[in-house]
Amino acid sequence: MSLSKKIKDIKCKFDIDFDLLKSKKSTTLNLKNKYLGRKGLINSLYLSFNKLPKNDKPKFGLDINKLKENISLKLADDSNDNIINDNSNLDLTLPGKYYDAGSIHPITLIIDEIKSIFQRIGFSSIYGPEVDTDYYNFEALNIPTHHPARDMQDTFYIDKDILLRTHTSGSQIHYMKKNKPPIKILSPGRVYRNEDISVRSYCLFHQIEGLYVDEKVSFSDLKGTLEYFAKEFFGNKVKTRFRPSYFPFTEPSAEMDVYWGLNSESDYRITKGTGWLEILGCGMVDPEVFKAVSYDLNKVSGFAFGLGIERIAMLKYGIDDIRLLYEGDIRFLSQFKK
Ligand code: PHE
Repeated sequence: MSLSKKIKDIKCKFDIDFDLLKSKKSTTLNLKNKYLGRKGLINSLYLSFNKLPKNDKPKFGLDINKLKENISLKLADDSNDNIINDNSNLDLTLPGKYYDAGSIHPITLIIDEIKSIFQRIGFSSIYGPEVDTDYYNFEALNIPTHHPARDMQDTFYIDKDILLRTHTSGSQIHYMKKNKPPIKILSPGRVYRNEDISVRSYCLFHQIEGLYVDEKVSFSDLKGTLEYFAKEFFGNKVKTRFRPSYFPFTEPSAEMDVYWGLNSESDYRITKGTGWLEILGCGMVDPEVFKAVSYDLNKVSGFAFGLGIERIAMLKYGIDDIRLLYEGDIRFLSQFKK
């Protein structure tokens, strides 16, 4: 068969095949293979084409290319293929495809819940930097260079002045320097301490800082606010207690414990045999801190608190090894579907 005949022949075959698409007796994929595939009909034309005398090549080359282009163009739209060909095979009782929806990390769940509890009494959220300077993390919070309180927190230093924050309290300074009272903020985020890794501690964890500054803020406002939080979060029956404590940036200072109970072996371990678990540090903002941000000591007072999120997450979900929170194990994480 001559080459021009072959070209015509393929054209005819394609027109017939293309009609089959409409009646769904074939698919574009089938036709693509048959005509445009490596061993397809178009490529087979090149065998005869290569044997042509040099003078004939341009004309036939053009014809073959035109045919190829035409076929490609017609087969470009394969949207029809998604329609099921044969309705008799359709089984409507088959289960659908299962897509794993993922889940929200327990730390995020806790932070979101605490944010919304405090939002209801007027606290808004702000964020401070995780890489901060010695000044914001220590100095302005009344922790000078040789203060023994620096030993309470083993710091990761980047250089002499730059560090990974050891608590979220530095956000208080960042915010107060830029804003005037009244102030009612929460500042959640990651903090870092160079601690030995164990069931109870990790080199990275999360805190939520709270700060309320206005005229005539009192210690009873602080207690009332934190008791409101504990009831909203743990339920009305929750038992809390305040213990006197010490922080350089608050005076007086306290820690709040929540009663967790002593019903199992892990309760003993988590609470060190007391049944109580410390969840936050707090106190009235120290005058030295107000001095650092140039607030008028005679006009304003305030309270601050720092909540440990991991502790609360462990308490709420009964997790007895803190490391589970950072390992990213799907078997653990998928239990926290909302
Ligand atoms: N920053 C303290 C800590 O990390 C907690 C705290 C915050 C205490 C605010 C008092 C006021 O332990």
